Amino acid sequence: MVASDIAVQLRGLSRSFGTVTAVHPIDLDIPRGDFLAILGPSGCGKTTLLRMMGGFVEPNAGHIEVNGADITHLGPEHRPINMVFQGYGLFPHMNARQNVGYGLRLKKLDRAIIAKRVSEAMALVRLEGYEDHMPAQLSGGQQQRVALARALVMKPQVLLLDEPLAALDLKLRQAMQEELRRIHREIGGTFVFVTHDQGEALGLANRIAVMKDGRIEQLGTPEDIYLRPQTHFVASFIGEANLLKGRRRGGVIETTCGAFEEGGPDGEIALVVRPESVRRLGHSERAEIETTGKVDEIVFLGAHVRYVLSLSSGEKLRVQDPVGKPRAAIGDMMGVGWSRSAQRIIAG
Ligand SMILES: Nc1ncnc2c1ncn2[C@@H]1O[C@H](COP(=O)(O)OP(=O)(O)OP(=O)(O)O)[C@@H](O)[C@H]1O
Ligand SMILES: [Mg+2]
Repeated sequence: MVASDIAVQLRGLSRSFGTVTAVHPIDLDIPRGDFLAILGPSGCGKTTLLRMMGGFVEPNAGHIEVNGADITHLGPEHRPINMVFQGYGLFPHMNARQNVGYGLRLKKLDRAIIAKRVSEAMALVRLEGYEDHMPAQLSGGQQQRVALARALVMKPQVLLLDEPLAALDLKLRQAMQEELRRIHREIGGTFVFVTHDQGEALGLANRIAVMKDGRIEQLGTPEDIYLRPQTHFVASFIGEANLLKGRRRGGVIETTCGAFEEGGPDGEIALVVRPESVRRLGHSERAEIETTGKVDEIVFLGAHVRYVLSLSSGEKLRVQDPVGKPRAAIGDMMGVGWSRSAQRIIAG
């Protein structure tokens, strides 16, 4: 990738609060037009990282470039970046139009230009007709849109969103996810989006940075992160994963599901396989990797049935079976299998 394709470049960016290191030195390149999700559990440093990019938290070390210019020590208002905060942060005494136009008024733009840009931003978030409503007269989703319009009206090159949908109910959240995707397509900027909801990250972003304890554990496309997790944490945090212990010696991996050849360093490993990749095998059916377990639990999930098997090692294996097949019963022995391409071997 050539440097001019990079919108935001972070180098060695870190921040501590007292004895707590919120963000360890992070290097990250965010390509122009990216919709990047920063995904991780509570307290892992997502907001601190975002606030450093926005100029609201001073880093202890490192620097930030936007379009090749060092902005590390610029105030928020001088960065080509805008941020939508969690909880919206609308001014309660201003109506929607005044909230959205606030930043432009500070810039002392011409009134006619402000009016035009505010109308455009309100249209972009589909809030025409609500211009005169006060925040208290708007639903959570509408307030969220006002907050988004207030950031978009500034035409930032980079838009930072800190858990913007967390306060919305599931239906509204899904609708707003579609809106965000549409807005990103229409304005074509670089979006960086913080969430602790893996479904949201997988559905919205074209790249995901998974954070843990102030570090980025893995960076990749949603497919990379879901299908090719590189660590225990990523495998278990994103979606549901079976993790089976094993060891590798001389290029041969041994697990409770048998032995097979796969190169790599000797030592403890974990085999990762998603429940939806594990098939229940009929009497004459075979699979590249096979095992048998005792049915411990059966959960009906609508489109499929989830079986929890107990393997001879004592490990649990979750299996997803389409509905409509004859149902197994608790205590039954069940043969299951998967293809080698569906599994990942990671360090144990
Ligand atoms: N202003 C502050 N003063 C002291 N400690 C802070 C401050 N801001 C963050 N921290 C600490 O830094 C760590 C990372 O916090 P941060 O808010 O970045 O996490 P997060 O990933 O955004 O979490 P959440 O998902 O709960 O919002 C936490 O241990 C937090 O307590
Ligand atoms: Mg946060």
